[in-house]
Amino acid sequence: MNLIKTVKELQEILISLKQQGKTIGFVPTMGALHQGHFSLVKQCVKDNDVCVVSIFVNPTQFNNKEDLEKYPRTLDRDSNSLEKVGANIVFAPSVEEIYPEPDQRQFDFGQLDKVMEGVRRPGHFNGVAQVVSRLFDIVKPDKAYFGEKDFQQLAIIREMVKQLGLPVQIVPMPIVRESSGLAMSSRNERLTSEQKEAAVNISRVLFESRNWIEKLSVSEVIEKVGKLINAVPELEIEYCEIVDGYTLQPISNWTESKYIVGCIAVYCGEVRLIDNIIYIAK
Ligand code: PAF
Repeated sequence: MNLIKTVKELQEILISLKQQGKTIGFVPTMGALHQGHFSLVKQCVKDNDVCVVSIFVNPTQFNNKEDLEKYPRTLDRDSNSLEKVGANIVFAPSVEEIYPEPDQRQFDFGQLDKVMEGVRRPGHFNGVAQVVSRLFDIVKPDKAYFGEKDFQQLAIIREMVKQLGLPVQIVPMPIVRESSGLAMSSRNERLTSEQKEAAVNISRVLFESRNWIEKLSVSEVIEKVGKLINAVPELEIEYCEIVDGYTLQPISNWTESKYIVGCIAVYCGEVRLIDNIIYIAK
């Protein structure tokens, strides 16, 4: 496995691989890797001749300076694990490599970022689009892999690819869960063991809520999810929204869309966790 830190070196290697007719798969990450990331990498290795993984903590997607500074940087550990799961190239650039000039681009995602995470984390998705488009421009992958846990991010990236007309296939990958049901996240490491036990209730309630949709209205399901989550000490719901899986706009009845997803953000102590569940996919 190659660990590369500069755009120039990466592009030299990739150009030569492409000239040999190799297909390039890409998994962008911010490091602090866990099984969720490894599932993307394993799929990428299976589908492509070459698997490139980037590790870059992108400053433009953090709206809180302290969060950016605190974000775990574990390059040695991450590279060792990536080698074991078969990645071929790890690209770990500096901020200057990715942004030689400040990126002033403002994307317009219409209504897609006017809900859920987009409202609570202003500028976040613009920063995600900046870095992912820049990375796509450097790597020029045939396929790129993103987890469905960040459901809104996936929708934004698909829209960005469409708007920019990029020749990359976006491959969504299902949420990877711990045996308890808790969705894998780098943030889980910040939970105490008691908080982790409490956090399990997020997925438990979401799974249970799938059984309610025959009998309860959309707003009743939202209310019941909120009540059950808030009843767990340590948990406080920030939002629970039931949306059309393509437009991300809230729906008000179960017949309104053929693809309906429940998205949730919950504080477990100080740690903010997100999760989602598919209610209907026809
Ligand atoms: O999902 C993430 O880890 C990040 O938002 C991404 C896509 C790597 C962009 O920095």
